[in-house]
Amino acid sequence: METLTTPNYLKQNFDYWQSEYATKHPDTNLVKLFHHIIKNEIDMNGRPLKVLDYGCSNGTNAKFFADMGMEAFGVDINRLAIAKASKDAAKWPMGSSLNFVSISPEVDEKDLFFQGDFDIILSWHTLCYFSDTDQHARLLSLRNNLRPGGLFIATMISKETHSYRISKPAEDGLRLMPIVERLKDLHGKEHFANHCGDASDVIRRLSMFEPMHLGHVNECFSVTNGENLHFWIFVGKKK
Ligand SMILES: C[S@@+](CC[C@H](N)C(=O)[O-])C[C@H]1O[C@@H](n2cnc3c(N)ncnc32)[C@H](O)[C@@H]1O
Repeated sequence: METLTTPNYLKQNFDYWQSEYATKHPDTNLVKLFHHIIKNEIDMNGRPLKVLDYGCSNGTNAKFFADMGMEAFGVDINRLAIAKASKDAAKWPMGSSLNFVSISPEVDEKDLFFQGDFDIILSWHTLCYFSDTDQHARLLSLRNNLRPGGLFIATMISKETHSYRISKPAEDGLRLMPIVERLKDLHGKEHFANHCGDASDVIRRLSMFEPMHLGHVNECFSVTNGENLHFWIFVGKKK
């Protein structure tokens, strides 16, 4: 099959993501992960932990961490979502511990977010929007933003996902994702995504972190539609 070239995939993905979201709740899988795994790996009784949500959208997952008593920060390329997150943060009871900023889609290994030095960095359903080269650089930058011993939590979308099967191969690990009828009012454009293989592929991509836990989820809300989302959940530590 022909491999598509992707000279401007970051711009195309940027345009794809400029939509308004009404989501009000943190991701259920993240909440469960926190209670089953994360809270046993951190000290919740000391000083407030500093957490970054990279790809935070309108901030619901960051707000969950703030709710758990942490100083939460979020960054995203979606300007509308960041505006909404910031507006909601102003009404937050612990307003000063919740901060959001919009960023450019480009990746620089030297990027520093909110002065770095994070205890926890989360990137939930976001790292798949980078080519292999940019994903590696972004992961190194996130590692640089962590304190030694800090936790890195990420999901990696897998090739067992429905959208992988209907996409077309493109350069540098990317696939061209077609417009989905069900989502076309929210996302009326094509975009690019990068799917992981098996567990060893996840560990290889995230080898700048010491692996602690690797899990996976296969979400399917309608067998009739035939859509599923299979993703890996990685929890690691800065070496
Ligand atoms: C599937 S949504 C997940 C949002 C949120 N993490 C959640 O779980 O609800 C993917 C997010 O990644 C963001 N994103 C895509 N490309 C990005 C980039 N280059 N840098 C930062 N964020 C990006 C999108 O704007 C979007 O908010």
